[in-house]
Amino acid sequence: MPRPGSAGDPLWYKRAVIYELPVKSFYDANGDGIGDFPGLLEKLDYIEALGVTCLWLLPFFPSPLRDDGYDISDYCNVHPSYGTLDDFRRFLDAAHERRLQVVIELVLNHTSDQHPWFQRARRAPAGSVERDYYVWSDAEDRYRDARIIFTDSERSNWTWDPVAQAYFWHRFFHHQPDLNYDNPTVLQEVLRVIDFWLDLGVDGFRLDAVPYLIEREGTRCENLPETHAVLKAVRRHVQARVPRGMLLAEANQWPADVRAYFADGDECQMAYHFPLMPRMFMGLHLEDRHPIVEIMQQTPAIPETCQWALFLRNHDELTLEMVTDEERDYMHLAYSADAQARINLGIRRRLAPLVGNNRRRIELRNSLLFSLPGTPILYYGDEIGMGDNTYLGDRNGVRTPMQWTGDRNADFSRADPARLYSPVIMDPIYGYRGINVEAQERDASSLLQWMRNLIGLRKLFPAFGSGSLEFLEPANRKILAYVLRYGPDAILCVANLSRSVQPVELSLSALVGLTPVEILGYTDFPVVSEQPYFLTLGPYGFYWFELQRRDV
Ligand code: NOJ
Ligand code: CA
Repeated sequence: MPRPGSAGDPLWYKRAVIYELPVKSFYDANGDGIGDFPGLLEKLDYIEALGVTCLWLLPFFPSPLRDDGYDISDYCNVHPSYGTLDDFRRFLDAAHERRLQVVIELVLNHTSDQHPWFQRARRAPAGSVERDYYVWSDAEDRYRDARIIFTDSERSNWTWDPVAQAYFWHRFFHHQPDLNYDNPTVLQEVLRVIDFWLDLGVDGFRLDAVPYLIEREGTRCENLPETHAVLKAVRRHVQARVPRGMLLAEANQWPADVRAYFADGDECQMAYHFPLMPRMFMGLHLEDRHPIVEIMQQTPAIPETCQWALFLRNHDELTLEMVTDEERDYMHLAYSADAQARINLGIRRRLAPLVGNNRRRIELRNSLLFSLPGTPILYYGDEIGMGDNTYLGDRNGVRTPMQWTGDRNADFSRADPARLYSPVIMDPIYGYRGINVEAQERDASSLLQWMRNLIGLRKLFPAFGSGSLEFLEPANRKILAYVLRYGPDAILCVANLSRSVQPVELSLSALVGLTPVEILGYTDFPVVSEQPYFLTLGPYGFYWFELQRRDV
């Protein structure tokens, strides 16, 4: 029997704890001010000690870096700033030796305008296979029902190309032309890219911006059946080569629309739960469980082999696309009163600053991230409560160097501070002198130690990640309570979303006779009886109980 979550486990991604990081931000081994693969390799001890089981690496391919690498100019190489392909191989082997899986980015929807495919396309005759790698038009009037995503920087999804003498289609920046999946050669090219990385040994791909692969007149050009057909072809290909290869869909859509990306278990194994993310923040600010319960109740069941990817923060803004206009206004009021923190429809802040650096609020949000059904994704630096810098432009303020020690450049790099790809965080609250790994390793009550403990506990119980979810409905709406069941195992989670002490009576009649054992302290609680089960919770407190059957 393979160890759960290990390489031999075909459902490894359901038991995983994922750690997301940009290679450039983690550790600079050669002192040029930019993080690199040899640096990441040096820090695998840290990653292993954190307890995560899988790394998701942000784009590290050759790129003009106008969208931090999501604008790729060569899919089968490593950006020279981050090292060489051999460095990548060495890193991957070392990660695998430690039984860490590695998921990389597959940016299917678009390339950089510097990609040779685009440079060839714009010069090729109209109507040729080469020109048709991308989507062209003589006028800006096609696909008018498609929304603009980067509302702060783009006015149209069409940009004029003086060389081609035509407009090209792009859902993101104007330097990121969309590939044309109506041209079968494009899919063949992408499958070659997949083979390249699978043959090197990567364990899965995050499929960037998947809803937008295909355009059709009269539609919003999102989630079209033809797009799903492309993804199924990708899955068949991966499955045939590496059956345990995992595809994670980035589809910022409502649960009912995201459901289609799992199909019958024959498309993507994972997809992010975008609508849940802002609701974890809303529920806590409102001190009411309703937003969380409602979105989970609207979340359709998914095939047994599939899994939701859950996150609190990532490398992008905290997106507010999947909330109503009213909810968005309210979120801005609550979490980004400072307009500098806003970008597009969201908020460019890290977890700790979002919650006013309140340790209990950080812990409570993580308790939800690590217990609601799905696989949790932790964003680098959030495990030590790193801050951000909203003045850095675009989303760069949440991509600053990892803070290792209180020494120069936070010990991220030996380069001159002026040479770093980004300034380190230096403010008095979140600055590297106070917030860093070394200090938190020495402090038994640091956030880092707390996170390591939580991650370790989560991995002990398969009901997290694989269990079914049932919400309880106590009268006190400040309390969120749910039971996770996995075979004979059951876990009860109870969270106080409010800033004050709360009482709650839970009706646990289905669990009568079981002994709740609090998981963080391994403390026995009174046996469940027919009577309502009474608990009190401190401000932002939470309990995880293992429900043990103790037959006499
Ligand atoms: C989604 C990525 O997360 C984001 O960082 C990027 O800008 C867009 N896709 C466009 O590639
Ligand atoms: Ca470097």
